[in-house]
Amino acid sequence: MKRVFARLRCLALVLTATIAIAGTAVAAEAMRGAAIASAHPLATEAGYAALHAGGNAFDAAVAVAAVLAVVEPYSSGLGGGGFWLLHRARGGHDIMVDGRETAPAGVALSMYIDASGKAIPGATMRGGTAAAIPGMPAAIAHLAAKYGKLPLAATLKTAIDIARNGFAVDSRYVAMAKLREKYLANGINTRVFLNGNSAPAPGFVLRQPQLAATLEALADAGHDGFYRGHIAGQMVAAVNAAGGAWRGTDLENYRVVERTPLKFTYRGATVITAPLPSAGGIILAEALNILQQFKITDARDPAQAHLVIEALRRGFQDRARYLGDSDFVQVPVAKLVDNAYARERAATIDPAAATPSDDTPFARRSPDGRNTTHYSIIDAEGNRVAATLSINFVFGAGLVAGDTGVLLNNEMDDFSLRPDIANLYRLRGGDANAIAPGKRPLSSMSPTFVEDRKGILVLGAPGGSRIVSQVLLGILDYVNQREVRLARIVSAPRYHHQYWPDRVEVEPRGFSPEWIAALTARKHEVETAGRRWGNMQAVFRARNSQTVQAASDPRARDMAGSY
Ligand code: DON
Repeated sequence: MKRVFARLRCLALVLTATIAIAGTAVAAEAMRGAAIASAHPLATEAGYAALHAGGNAFDAAVAVAAVLAVVEPYSSGLGGGGFWLLHRARGGHDIMVDGRETAPAGVALSMYIDASGKAIPGATMRGGTAAAIPGMPAAIAHLAAKYGKLPLAATLKTAIDIARNGFAVDSRYVAMAKLREKYLANGINTRVFLNGNSAPAPGFVLRQPQLAATLEALADAGHDGFYRGHIAGQMVAAVNAAGGAWRGTDLENYRVVERTPLKFTYRGATVITAPLPSAGGIILAEALNILQQFKITDARDPAQAHLVIEALRRGFQDRARYLGDSDFVQVPVAKLVDNAYARERAATIDPAAATPSDDTPFARRSPDGRNTTHYSIIDAEGNRVAATLSINFVFGAGLVAGDTGVLLNNEMDDFSLRPDIANLYRLRGGDANAIAPGKRPLSSMSPTFVEDRKGILVLGAPGGSRIVSQVLLGILDYVNQREVRLARIVSAPRYHHQYWPDRVEVEPRGFSPEWIAALTARKHEVETAGRRWGNMQAVFRARNSQTVQAASDPRARDMAGSY
């Protein structure tokens, strides 16, 4: 039965497309060349329904994000944020809607580091001090108002209905709730995600009437429905009662920022990806520029994997040295993404041996990529969306604000408290990513488009710092494929390096002992992770036809234990 469900999930896309286009010829036209990949079939379905109702990719993006907020509350939601990379077919316009959370004005380092200089356990992870001002509702409202064709009342309706009437939780939900069972049982208003004090069984119908009402307020009043009035008041009160320092003005002042995406070429392909406050795009540009100095035909060949790892090492080193919110600090972006710099960096790579990182202070394992979420959309007109959304770690700050049903993020952990203190993903950073009022924490989320002679690829993934290596491997695979096989790209085995800790992490069962020996011979320390990571979602449209492919990472089933 479980297996059948897994197959159904894979087929969901095909099925929903078939159901959706079974209607009129007009509807069929609206679906031709359209593709959606998301982490949940209900979200994908809502996206197709938005297209079917006459909406464009941006309307579908609103519908998908809203349903994910309801059915994947451990990953993303109204209490979180994200990046929406957009391509508008009319005028060929690329833009990134930055709906990243911001630090509240009342933030102080003393909330996170005590008088003796020690990090206060849990302060960036749990309760009021962990939560940054959410950006997702503002981003949804902005997408609908500026880019969509349908009113929010239409695109949010499915999410509202699912929140109110409930949905049957799947084994992935159950696995997440089990992982955080105690956290949810002891959190603030978080028992709504459990059945009593325990993780529910698959098939349990989860209802979130308060979240439905909040989504309705957003549908009725747009941005201000969330950032002013009752909901805003409830959030401020709940956060402050849990040790935080929010003010009503933090919410009133929250705005999305439209940012120019980072654009560069790699072996004839144009890569369009996230700019700051994502570190992802800059690391991708630096790493791919470095790799262009070599010949990467197969990123899983050990000799070539060594080069990819060395490129990642250098990109992540520069992340730690230079990157932070560019509205607050000066970042030498132009230099970092420049080919002359990449040539200098490439010249320091020894093809036969790893370059040691200058410090190896960490022993802790990083968590695997089970939360956060990505979706990819192309519509019939050629509009595109790549969106990666997050509340950070599984079930965020463990704090549902008052009667709003909104689970708040723990994105404050993405700041760097001090250069010698690593965050959850074992990332360290300097002053550029230090906490400051109104600032956006540096992110790894890397929604990306790749355009070449073959067509257009839209991709992204969750996974904390491992997002960047996943997207990098995805781009390398895509460029190396003569005929695009999207399913292979999203399922290929993964490795990762992030400068600190100085070791190559590999997925279990993905690499042979000979492969590992070849890397060890090049002086790499290779660590096999406990689980596979990521949940990549990609769509592809061929250049000279309406042929589309959509692929969801098969790992989602793995993560649920047995699906
Ligand atoms: O913005 C970031 O980089 C993180 N908050 C993303 C977290 C994430 O992907 C967790 N997934 N495993």
